[in-house]
Order: sequence, then C-alpha cells, then structure tokens
Amino acid sequence: MSTSTSGGVRLRLAFDTERRTQQTLGVPDALTFPDGFLWGAATAAHQVEGDNTNSDWWEWEQRGDSPVPEPSGRACEHYTRYADDVRLLADAGLNTYRYSVEWARIEPTEGDFDEAQLDHYVRMTDVVRAAGLTPVITLHHFTLPQWLAARGGWTDRRTPELFARYCERVVRELGGRVDWFCTINEPGNVAVGGYLGVFGWPPGSTSYDDFRRAADGLTSGHRAALQAIKSVRPEAHVGVTHGMQEWTANAAGRSPMREVRRMFEDVYLEASADDDFVGVQTYTRVPVDLPAALLPATALLGRVPALRHRVLPKVLRQQFRAMSHSAPRDGLRRTQMGYEFRPEAVAATLRRAAKMLPGKDLLVTEHGIATSDDAERIEFVRGGLAAVHQVMAEGLPVKGYLYWSLLDNFEWAHGYRPTFGLVDIDRDTMARTPRPSLQFLGDVASSGRLQLDR
Ligand code: FCB
Repeated sequence: MSTSTSGGVRLRLAFDTERRTQQTLGVPDALTFPDGFLWGAATAAHQVEGDNTNSDWWEWEQRGDSPVPEPSGRACEHYTRYADDVRLLADAGLNTYRYSVEWARIEPTEGDFDEAQLDHYVRMTDVVRAAGLTPVITLHHFTLPQWLAARGGWTDRRTPELFARYCERVVRELGGRVDWFCTINEPGNVAVGGYLGVFGWPPGSTSYDDFRRAADGLTSGHRAALQAIKSVRPEAHVGVTHGMQEWTANAAGRSPMREVRRMFEDVYLEASADDDFVGVQTYTRVPVDLPAALLPATALLGRVPALRHRVLPKVLRQQFRAMSHSAPRDGLRRTQMGYEFRPEAVAATLRRAAKMLPGKDLLVTEHGIATSDDAERIEFVRGGLAAVHQVMAEGLPVKGYLYWSLLDNFEWAHGYRPTFGLVDIDRDTMARTPRPSLQFLGDVASSGRLQLDR
C-alpha cells in the first residue's frame, strides 16, 4: 500500500516537473478556440420528430420489402418535446442548434403550404433563440414530400424550382430569426444512396441515368435555393452541408477513388462556388484498395465514360459493404456503423474543402460516432476538436463544430441500432438521459478550451 502511494507521489512529481518543463518551453496544456465559435449539436427532422407520415421515407419504411429494419414511428417525439431537448443543449453550455424543417409537413400537397406547420417551426426557432442558441437550419435533410417523390423526386425536371419556392417560403416565414441556412444535406449521399441503390434509400433506383439526373437536379436545386434565400435575406449565411470522408487509395484504387469521390463530393463542392460557407460532415476514412492486377483496367476509368458507368456502381457497392457491413478482420478499431474509428479524418476533409473553395468560411456541421461506450464518444470528440484546432492553426477559417447528434435517433437504413447521441433516449418511455459527453462538449464550449490529456 505504502509502496504504491509513494510510487503515486513519485509519478505526480514527475508529471508536475514534466508539465512545468512543457510550460517553460511554451507547450500549452489546453487548446483554445476563438470567441464567437459556434459550438453545438445537430439533428434532422425525420430522424427525431416522429410520425413524418407525408414523407417518402415514411412510405419506404412501411413497404413489405423495405430494406429498413424498422420504421421510424414515433422517433424521439422531438416534434412535441423539442423544448426539453433545446434546454438540455443550452444548459450544458453549447451555443448552437442545427435542426431541419420538414418539407413533407410544410407542403403536404403541391403548392399548398400548411400555415400551422410553418408556425410550428417559427415557434420552435423562437424557443431555440430564447435559450440563447444560434439556430442553423437545414431545409432539406434527405426526405421529400410523397407527391414530389411520386413524380421522380430529384430526377424530375421541375424539382429544383419547386425546392427553391419552398425554401423562399420558409425563409420568408422565419424572417430575421435565422442567419445560417443549409439548403441540401449531403447531396452526394442522396444521389448515390437513393438513385444508384448503394445505401438502400428511397426511391431505390439502381439506374445510372437516374443517378445522373438526380445529381443534376440536386446541384440546380441548390443553386436555385441559394438565389431564392438571398433574395429574401441577402445577409444570411447560406451553404450546403457536404458529406466528405478522408479518402485513400493504393495504386490500382487511385483512379476509381477519384471518380467515386467526385460522385460523392466534388460535383457538389463545385456547385458551392457562390455559397457563403462550406458545411463539412465527416465520420471516417475510406480506403479504396484494389488488386494490382486491375491497375491497367482502372487506369482507363478517367478516359472511357462507358466504362465508368459500368464499373463505378460496382466499386461503390463493394466499398460501402467493406466500409460498413464487414466483420472487421483487418484489426481496425471500428464504430457501431462499421466505420474505422478515425476522428482526425475531419482535418483531411477541412483541408480538402479549403483547397477546393479557397477563402470560404468552413463549419463542421456534423462529426460524430455511433458507440455504446460514452467514454469512446468523448475520445472521438476530443480527437476531432484537436484536429479542427490544428487546421485552424494552419490558417483555415473554421467557424464552429456541431456534433452529430444531440439525440440517439432513427439512423435511416440502419434503424435505431446505432447510438450517436449526446443524450440517450429510452425507446419505450422516451425519457431523455444526458450522457457525460454532453457536459464534456458543453464545458469545452463555455470555456473555449480543450484541456489536453497529459
Ligand atoms: C450523415 C447524415 C445524418 C446521419 C449521420 C450519421 O450522413 O447527414 O443524417 O445519418 O450521417
């Protein structure tokens, strides 16, 4: 006993000496973030509100042959309980809440805007602001009204203009309450996941033509929405929240990796040239490692479009399976989603966004982990924040960090199994239990300091 105590004292002294040495040498014991930094958490309407019955996702979940393991149902009842959730976020010390407004509720049939639903989001936004939080609002987070989906969703020629009309209406209604708008969440995932059949999302198309048309619709939809929002609120910050991962490749994988990354990311980053900020959302690293024997064939990809159409969907499906569904035999530490545990991937994506859109403000609009171990979540956030701090030290204009997600919620084609939340939700009683990670992030937010582990 006494030996371990004196061992402890010796260790403590050594630690103090080390810390003094570090201080003398100017090595900080905390990373500091600037005043005005946006610290928050994010949700999306369909994943948390419950009973989003007019949406394409709702219909998709109810089908007998649905690839979704369970329907969203009541979700987290955030539609009625939002004030409690907003309070949890604010009480922890965070200053920003990112959430989405639901097109399927607001325009349940073409051209008929539901005043009661618009009022709901105005009231909700008032509650967010009264709690001292900055609202960041997403106008489209994966779901479409059923009437629009029935006409082909993003493949329909008129969708961009209808989307812009809906955005204009919402922004007009919200008036001066909101300064940050995300038009479309992760357009690359919408196109690849729903129109090329990679993630099991609606409409479940697997045709390359549909995919191309949807990708065009999403970029035009964003541009039209940007204009519409700016016509109402020229001073608002408007951008896309881009799904971006850290991509790596071996020699044979390099050419397909570039093409695939283009399908997920570049097309939409290029369409963001006139935006006010770039939303960056990153979960992991994606290696594209292919057998060396394929090198001569894959090297042709960039040059032969016909080959692209045939090969890329296959590479994508295989990659996605390897990335998220495989039993990990490779010794990598993985999350509940099957993703590699790699919080620092966000530094790579921020650097890439800054390279493609130099000088634009950057905002981490999602970064998070699905895990049953909250200590691991804290480790992930800590790693992510250190990476964000690093790129800020390099001069990148990062304006905030929003964790995904505030609540455990409906994770699309994975159902309720993955738990991303800073707050646990009891699925039977809907009781909210904040996890230590909520307070951890709140403490960093209110002090502006991330204490380093030494
Ligand atoms: C992102 C989505 C978000 C959530 C997280 C885990 O791609 O924007 O809705 O599903 O992944």
